[in-house]
Amino acid sequence: MPAIEVKPGIYWIGVNDRTTDLFEGLWPITQEGVSYNAYIVKGEKSALIDMAKDFKADELLDQIAQIIDPAELDYIIVNHMEPDHTGVMRTFRRVAPNVKLVGTAKAADMITSYYGIEDGIQIVQDGETLDLGGPVLKFVATPFVHWPETMMTYEVSQKVLFSCDGFGGYGALQGVIFDEQCTSLDFYEKEALRYYVNIVALYPKPVLKAIDKLADVPIDVVAPSHGLIWRKNPERIVELYKKWANYAQSSGDPGVTLIYGTMYGNTEHMVEAVAEGVARAGLPVDIFDVRHTHASYILPYLYTRRGVLVGAPTYEGGIFPPMMDMLNMAKGKRIMGRKTAYFGSYGWSGGARRDFNKFVEDLRWDVFDVWEFKGAPTLELLNKGEELGYRFAESLKEA
Ligand code: FEO
Repeated sequence: MPAIEVKPGIYWIGVNDRTTDLFEGLWPITQEGVSYNAYIVKGEKSALIDMAKDFKADELLDQIAQIIDPAELDYIIVNHMEPDHTGVMRTFRRVAPNVKLVGTAKAADMITSYYGIEDGIQIVQDGETLDLGGPVLKFVATPFVHWPETMMTYEVSQKVLFSCDGFGGYGALQGVIFDEQCTSLDFYEKEALRYYVNIVALYPKPVLKAIDKLADVPIDVVAPSHGLIWRKNPERIVELYKKWANYAQSSGDPGVTLIYGTMYGNTEHMVEAVAEGVARAGLPVDIFDVRHTHASYILPYLYTRRGVLVGAPTYEGGIFPPMMDMLNMAKGKRIMGRKTAYFGSYGWSGGARRDFNKFVEDLRWDVFDVWEFKGAPTLELLNKGEELGYRFAESLKEA
């Protein structure tokens, strides 16, 4: 997409990435893509705010050239050092050798460690301003949204917040960049939640602290580095991030995530019965086979829902390894305080329950039931599974 004016003197000059399969080398975005939103703020002097991943250098330079010769940039505002924002930095330095790189002290240290650049770095403090001769940029330290060096940049006269990872989401921009241009926000909001849970969820307190810090700042536009720009309703994405950050301290919404793995279909057979029981109780249940669905897509459900049903067979005396991988991802994201039950098939001695019990103890999950059954489920066992699903769902209503 060509450069687009966000406000007078402020331009989106970002790029879509539909090539990368795994964001951070870990989270799938093959289908959804991601945008690297970068911006030019133009006064007597010009600043580029944020950049892009390394292989986007040429495309981003072409975008910038629609507004200003990149060699004439005065400043590059480095809100965040993760290489999805800074991979082009060395190339840009060659193109604009006199440009000042502006960031926090921690960012300055990382500029050197990541890119070997030691000169031409301007360190800014929380609350400091930079007058571009017309527009004025104010820097707001927001550590751990997403890394310790991260800051947001606020343009004072137009009230535009360049929020970097904060308020961002996966999802390449689908022909539009502003919320008011969208016929449906569902895609962006769903991808923003997945992004939040995958990337930012470990830091709920810093997110809430940043939102508090911005509470008295008049914001006309929230312009993150990934995803949609919120110009019609900037409060919307801030409220969503606040709601999501608060899940870290809550037991989640009523509803069930049923995650399972299966070797020969016996545990999977039981999944159907258990899910039937949950549905009979009238609660929503979303079912994921952990062998086929990446944790990236499952984590948002675990993060927001109160109930977690775990179906997995015993494998070599422990829990089925793909389930252990999934549970470890939930542990990594510190998804605490859920209500759970386990069921699964075993061949001769069981043992999955030991791994499950250890896991739930670490995360302080409330265990409703742990049930291992031998071999293939009989009709009697299936009825018992249906009843387990029903009673489990009913217990969530009481919580
Ligand atoms: Fe968009 Fe923390 O990287």
